[in-house]
Amino acid sequence: MAVLLVVGGLRQAKEERGPGAVALPGMLDERAGDRLIGTAVDDGALQREPGYREVLARQFSTLTPENAMKWAVLEPERGRVEWGGADRLVAFAEEHDQEVRGHPLVWFGQLPGWVEALPEPEVQQVMREHIRQVVERYRGRVRTWDVVNEPFEDDGSRRRSIFQRGMGDGWVEDAFRTARTADPDAKLYLNEIGAEAPGPKSDALYALARDLRARGVPIDGVGFQGHFNLEGMPRGFRQNVERFAALGLDVAITEADVALEMPASEGELRAQAAVFRGVVEVCRAVPRCRSLTFWGFTDRHSWIPATQPGRGAATLLDEELRPKPAFRSVLRALGR
Ligand code: XIL
Repeated sequence: MAVLLVVGGLRQAKEERGPGAVALPGMLDERAGDRLIGTAVDDGALQREPGYREVLARQFSTLTPENAMKWAVLEPERGRVEWGGADRLVAFAEEHDQEVRGHPLVWFGQLPGWVEALPEPEVQQVMREHIRQVVERYRGRVRTWDVVNEPFEDDGSRRRSIFQRGMGDGWVEDAFRTARTADPDAKLYLNEIGAEAPGPKSDALYALARDLRARGVPIDGVGFQGHFNLEGMPRGFRQNVERFAALGLDVAITEADVALEMPASEGELRAQAAVFRGVVEVCRAVPRCRSLTFWGFTDRHSWIPATQPGRGAATLLDEELRPKPAFRSVLRALGR
C-alpha cells in the first residue's frame, strides 16, 4: 500500500513537471534582428515545467504574461496586490535577455469585482492609480505596454466598460497619458481583437489611433491580436496594418493562434501551417511591424479548448512540445 502510494505520487509529480524539451528543427528567435518573436506565458507552466521553460528561454525574444498582469490577478481585493506571477515573468525574461510586453493595463475583461462595482465618479482616479502602480513597479524592465485593450465592439462603437461608463470616450487618452508619465521610455500600445480585416471595428480603431496621433497623445503602436482559425486570415489584413503604420505608428501582431476543430487531421494541421505562414508574411512585409507574438507555443497550454469547446491544437508545438507542421512553416517564413 505504502509502495503504491509512493509510485502514484511519483507519476503525478512527473505529469506536473510536463514533458521534456525535444530538439526543435530551428530557432524562431533571431536576436540580431529587430523584429522580435514572442509568446504568451502560462504562469503555472513557468513554475512547474522545466521543458516548457527550456523552449521558452531558447525560442523567443519577447514574452507576454498570458494572465499574470491582469487586474483581477494582480489585485483581487482592493489594496491587496499580488505581484508573484508578474514578478516571475519579468525575472525570467531578464535572466534570458528577453523583452517583456506588459499586458493589459486597462481592459474590460478579467477585472476584479471591486473595480466593476466602482461608483462612476471614482473610476478615473482608480484607473490612474492602477496604471501608475503597475507601470512604475516595472519601470525600465517592461519595455512595451498594452495600455488599452479591446476598447471597441465589433460594430465599431465603444464597449460600455466601466471605464467608458465612468469617464466617457476620454478614458483611452487618459490611460495613455498616465502610462507615459509613469514610464517615459516604455512603448505604449493600443491593442484590439478582430480588427485585422478592414471593417467597422478596424475603421473605428484607425480613427482613434489617428486622432490620438494628431493631438499628440503619447501612443507608440497598435497591436493586432491575430486569433484565427481555418477560415484563414481575413482579406486585406496587410493593407489594413499598413494604413496604421502610415500614421507613423509601430504595429505588432500580439496574440497569434489558429484554432482547429478537434481532433485535428493531418490535412488540417497542414492548412493551419499555411495560415501561420501568412501571419508571418504580413509582419515581415510591413517594416514597422516590430514584433510577432504567439498566444502560447504549445497545445498543452492554450486558451482555446477552455474558451471554444471542441476546438484546440491552436499553437506551433503539440502537447508533448514536438513541432507541428505550423512550427516548420513559421521557421521557413521567417527565413530561418
Ligand atoms: C485569455 C487567456 O489566454 C485566458 O487564459 C484567460 O482565461 C482569458 O484571457 N484577448 C486578450 C487576452 O487580450 O488577454 C486573452 O487571454 C485572449 C483574448
